[in-house]
Amino acid sequence: MARERWSTGLGFILASIGSAVGIGNIWRFPYIVGANGGGAFLLPYLISVFLFGVPLMMLELAVGRHLQTSVGPAFRAIGKRFFPAGVAIVAIVSLILSYYLVVTSWVLAYALFFALQRPVDFDAFTGSFYPLVFFFLSGLIVYATVRSGVRQGLERISRIVIPLLVVILLFLVAFSLLRPGALEGVAYYLAPDVSLLADPMIWGAAFGQAFFSLSVGMGILLTYGSYLEKADLFRNATVIAVADVLIAILAGFMIFPLVFSFGLDPAAGVNLAFVTLPTVFAGIPFGWVLGMLFFAMLFLAALTSAASMLEVPVATVIDLYGYTRQKATLLVFGAIVLLGLPSALSYTGLRLELFGTPLFDLSDYYFGTLGLICSGLIVSIVAGWFVDTEWLFGELGGSPRMQRVYLFLVRYCIPAVLFATLISQVFGIAA
Ligand code: PHE
Repeated sequence: MARERWSTGLGFILASIGSAVGIGNIWRFPYIVGANGGGAFLLPYLISVFLFGVPLMMLELAVGRHLQTSVGPAFRAIGKRFFPAGVAIVAIVSLILSYYLVVTSWVLAYALFFALQRPVDFDAFTGSFYPLVFFFLSGLIVYATVRSGVRQGLERISRIVIPLLVVILLFLVAFSLLRPGALEGVAYYLAPDVSLLADPMIWGAAFGQAFFSLSVGMGILLTYGSYLEKADLFRNATVIAVADVLIAILAGFMIFPLVFSFGLDPAAGVNLAFVTLPTVFAGIPFGWVLGMLFFAMLFLAALTSAASMLEVPVATVIDLYGYTRQKATLLVFGAIVLLGLPSALSYTGLRLELFGTPLFDLSDYYFGTLGLICSGLIVSIVAGWFVDTEWLFGELGGSPRMQRVYLFLVRYCIPAVLFATLISQVFGIAA
């Protein structure tokens, strides 16, 4: 069977932006900026994105494009002994997806509750069995997307979602900036505290957030690259990264003015989206419309990210075993739902905990934080050191000098940065 293909270059770019733009941009980025020095954080963040994130994106795209296959078989093609490393990446992405779906389902639930003008209390909601219903519902939408294939599923949904998301975001930003007291929020968001740049914690937070937000190092871009014919990978990776950064920065212009106009705590972390903002919406006339739009936007962002994660194991199963997409999606998705159930149930009356920590929080830390960094390390080391540089540079182009700089970045700098981020996370010195 011929390999599936993106219908156009733009379709590929939109699907990759759909993968990158997720909950990480709209909700995580603003609170990390708030907690790490405001405007000064942008400098380490932009350096992380463009100096380390983009070269790693290009590496993944080049491997997928050249080998025309997904993570498992691609790693095997690089070297038989790397196959287990490829399987490890597929497993990590599946585990991340299993709990990312839980957050996706909360967001969907909140969008519907606001639409019905029935705001809920976060603890009451997560303590009930409603989250389970929404877990299946949002899972089903992700499943249907991936089952429909590269063009009809991933590409088509991103063509609708990305423009819609941008329109909602611009509307919410305009609304927030017009609130009384908005400027104070902007000042908090952007006022640079340059002294903080000497703090390694800020850099660790910037690297972690950049890799998470770009969806890089997970084999997603490798898989997406395998559906490409020839393409300018540098340009594509840059466009995706710029779009991702712009949407994250814009999201801050929506969140901080709103939070400040109500005198609430901007560094509420996880509670920012599910507790602080609903309080804001409750205090504004027609706030339920804003709440509905905000959570619908978050859901759209999460949906395309979740679908891109599901595509990684699905594509590997298709390429390894020759299954039809329908069969592969059903099998993989069934397994991921089973894996996600403990996270989905962890705040309910069942209180699924290990040593006093809810399983959801454990998944977030072990899979979403440590797993993500480890998988980035594996990708950069295997692809950076063991692929044939001749074909790699054939994919990437550029002058011999640029190629030397590039190789230095992917072989030494990126693994070193990822390793440092891993250590700082394990010892708890980065947010
Ligand atoms: N980039 C997505 C976001 O910002 C999350 C994600 C991480 C998606 C890893 C895929 C892989 O929410």
